Amino acid sequence: MARKLIIDTDTAADDSFALLVGLLHPEADLRAVTIVAGNVDFEQQVRNALITVDQAGRSGEVPVFRGATDPLVRPWYEAKAHGDGKGNVEWPTPMQQAESVHGAQAIVDLANAYPGDIDLLAIGPLTNVALALAMDRDLPSKIRELWIMGGCDNSEGNVTAAAEYNFFVDPEAAQMVLSAGFATTIVTWTLTLAQATWDDQQLDTIRNMGTPLSEFFSILDAPNREFNGSVGVPGSTHPDSLTAMLLVEPGLIRRSSPRYVEVETHSELTRGYSLMDSREGRPSGVHMPNATVIEEVDEQGFYTKFMTLLETTVKRR
Ligand code: BDR
Ligand code: CA
Repeated sequence: MARKLIIDTDTAADDSFALLVGLLHPEADLRAVTIVAGNVDFEQQVRNALITVDQAGRSGEVPVFRGATDPLVRPWYEAKAHGDGKGNVEWPTPMQQAESVHGAQAIVDLANAYPGDIDLLAIGPLTNVALALAMDRDLPSKIRELWIMGGCDNSEGNVTAAAEYNFFVDPEAAQMVLSAGFATTIVTWTLTLAQATWDDQQLDTIRNMGTPLSEFFSILDAPNREFNGSVGVPGSTHPDSLTAMLLVEPGLIRRSSPRYVEVETHSELTRGYSLMDSREGRPSGVHMPNATVIEEVDEQGFYTKFMTLLETTVKRR
């Protein structure tokens, strides 16, 4: 049976591609999209999610909720890699509108409607998840699995040398969520760079598919491809869609391990750094694993399965 799913997202480019996984993969039963402050202007993110639902032919079927418009305690920090997150072009006005209920409330409501039978995929800063946790302390036992895109596997980040974007933007939320007792799986920026970066040839192959969704993909992906070129990363990176795909296609995971993960919230120098420890016993004390960290995936399998989604025949209005 398909997995009931909530996607919490700062919708821009690869977040939209992760939404396509939730909207189109047969193993995903997407019940809600919740928007969190992150990549681009908040209302733009809401529009980007609605456009994606529309382009996937699912308008009116999956509700989109506005969530936190700022991190818990820090000012919003924009990502520079995605343009406006929708390829800097105009798309037809989506038929659907955002709901009036807050995104954190939607997470709590769905967790209580399907206790132990719904997964939460968090591909932006963890502010909405932290707020939902503050509203319902039993949330970790009601969410079947929490999948997070965030952090680095003890290596260099993409915002600072120490930190990956999602954990950098709201480190307090990340630490709160990681220490709350969810059944957590993490896909890191480290893994993304190594195994979910598609080169020019792969991106051209997608463009040449000539389907409505391959065109949607290529347009949204272009700003990221251009930005990456300017910082020496060839091609485009797919952290969020990799995380979404692994959730519904766990057979793509080749190696993972239980780790103790903690996020730096005090230092400005290493703000958002994620310590990922594989040893339970340290002279400083015993730290039990609180997350499974994915370390290796079937890279080609991810790319192929994503292309299959782009072949989907979309219902047009
Ligand atoms: C993460 O940051 C965002 O820019 C992307 O959407 C992704 O979720 C990668 O560090
Ligand atoms: Ca994201």
